[in-house]
Amino acid sequence: MPNAPLWPALDAIAYGGDYNPEQWPRETWREDVRLMREAGVNLVSVGIFSWALIETDEGVFDFTWLDEILDLLHANGIAVDLGTPTASPPAWFFARHPEARVTTADGTRLGFGSRGMASPSSAAYREAIVRIAAALARRYAEHPAVVLWHVHNEYGVPVADDHSDESAAAFRGWLRARYGSLDALNAAWGTAFWGQHYGAWEHVSTPAAAPSTINPAHKLDFQRFTDHQLRACFVAERDAIRARAAQPITTNFMANQHWGTDLWAWAEEVDVVSDDHYLWAADDAPEIGLAIAADLTRSVAGGRPWILMEHSTSAVNWQPRNLAKRPGEMARNSLAHVARGADAVLFFQWRASRRGAEKFHSAMLPHAGTDSRVWREVTALGRDLGALDEVRGSRVTADVAVLWDFESFWAQDLEWRPTEDLSHRERIRAYYERLWRDGVTVDFALPGHDLSRYRLVVAPAQYLLRADDAANLTRYVAGGGTLVVSYFSGIVGENDDVHPGGYLSPLREALGVDVEEWLPLAEGARTAIAWDDGSETPSDHWQEQLRLAGAEVVARNASGPGEGLPAVTRHAHGDGAGWYVSTRLDTAGLAALMRRVYDDAGITPARHDEGLEVVRRTDGDRSYAFAINHSARDVALETPGTDLLTGHDGDRHPIPAGGVAVVRETP
Ligand code: GAL
Repeated sequence: MPNAPLWPALDAIAYGGDYNPEQWPRETWREDVRLMREAGVNLVSVGIFSWALIETDEGVFDFTWLDEILDLLHANGIAVDLGTPTASPPAWFFARHPEARVTTADGTRLGFGSRGMASPSSAAYREAIVRIAAALARRYAEHPAVVLWHVHNEYGVPVADDHSDESAAAFRGWLRARYGSLDALNAAWGTAFWGQHYGAWEHVSTPAAAPSTINPAHKLDFQRFTDHQLRACFVAERDAIRARAAQPITTNFMANQHWGTDLWAWAEEVDVVSDDHYLWAADDAPEIGLAIAADLTRSVAGGRPWILMEHSTSAVNWQPRNLAKRPGEMARNSLAHVARGADAVLFFQWRASRRGAEKFHSAMLPHAGTDSRVWREVTALGRDLGALDEVRGSRVTADVAVLWDFESFWAQDLEWRPTEDLSHRERIRAYYERLWRDGVTVDFALPGHDLSRYRLVVAPAQYLLRADDAANLTRYVAGGGTLVVSYFSGIVGENDDVHPGGYLSPLREALGVDVEEWLPLAEGARTAIAWDDGSETPSDHWQEQLRLAGAEVVARNASGPGEGLPAVTRHAHGDGAGWYVSTRLDTAGLAALMRRVYDDAGITPARHDEGLEVVRRTDGDRSYAFAINHSARDVALETPGTDLLTGHDGDRHPIPAGGVAVVRETP
């Protein structure tokens, strides 16, 4: 990834949001820039959905309004992240190119009147996106307001899979390049099963609706292909801009919200990583989902600072129940992202829309206007971020990595799994939550990464595990690392093919155990495990008949079909240790497990007040402790230094209920 400067024209943490001036008359624009200045806004994203108003017919461009608003923003000291509007092609595009419309698995061609891109494989769409990206770059490469390019919007949603003829042809081309021959494809997909053998390339198509479950390797490859096609669309636009303009280029990810794109690969293609994050209101600890998203974003960015491209000031409008953020919550959310590496805090959107599908979505400037709690909190946050300039560029470091592998998730989500209770999301959240509550900062990683700098690596759901990645994990343990692997890991290879040595066999050496048979539990069945110290904790969903190959037993199933069998094991391998957990532990079980694991790995959990989230960003000698109080009690952070938000200097920093401190720690 090129190491382009993040925001060449900004000397502060970026603050602002999506700005859609085309929805408003000119007099509102003048009020907008005045209020942006009042709020401390210094960066807005413009033009993300404006294709129909910029290219009014094929090849016919009208830049008048965009020229005018960019000039006005620049005159007011507000920089622009300029969007390419390719997430929402105009009506004329679909009228001229009906074949570019997305076809669903059941053959339905999707219509116009919403938003969502055309088929990522459509030649007409590819041509049109390059045309508009090039036209924008040509026009605005030298515009002093433009400091960043925002290609497209959230690749992968609302549609990505396309079953049109054009997509099928492109899929065949992609498969030919991947496999070289039909024999290799037949072998990889295991088409001997159910008589699916292919004798001609033209018989291979997308996995559209079929009478029964479709070949899982076929589906997995289609997922890879779709991700590849989306990325090719991004690269085409990026290169059209790069050929004409020098500003850095990004596209907004949806870490921990959308699993369809492989963000590790995407991060390689952007100049700077950016992410959108919305709280899930039904989550009883949404700050933990936020922390996962932020840590994942930082991890795919290779630890570099990143842009929080969108979040909300209060409620969204697309969940079953859209809860308003409570006083202080927006600032806690924003600063939690900064704590985990963001150098920019942006929202969807600047001014609430009066019309259209998102008119009930919160904004920096709500329908209620400036005499509102949201506006007062927006201006206060602008001031707070202004006090944090010096934090920019500092990094978060972690001793623990949690494995996060999109391909493995895609494979696990295929049909006909041993029980519908298996969920990689649920297990990752459970392990991450334990680490979060213990104040242990986490990176995410792929199993093939160099993991040697981590004391502990946790694999909550590594269903698909290539043999070479398993060897990497084994070397990591032999070299002194501590590895924790949860059930339903190490099951299949590249093409959803069961490992020849059986379940978990690629990790047998590291873990000293493999799996003879799964023992999934009936719906609602409750079991328990008995630990080596005599204590018991609840478990459910899953048990296994393990085959010990050197591991010691740390806990056994106290009930259920696996009663008496080993449930948790530990194996000394080389200079490290491999732990295996064959059942779903609850929070008490995870606490019992991780206590032992921390001892093994030499990790000391932080002892902060309950509900206090503490994360550090450092740069050489400088260290900033972000302390976010999610509890309803006043708490304190004990560390010598100065709170950049309040100016408070001392060894002890009181943090009121719901408040935040950012302490520059005295070296
Ligand atoms: C995002 C999207 C924005 C807006 C927002 C509403 O996913 O990028 O355009 O729709 O959701 O929460």
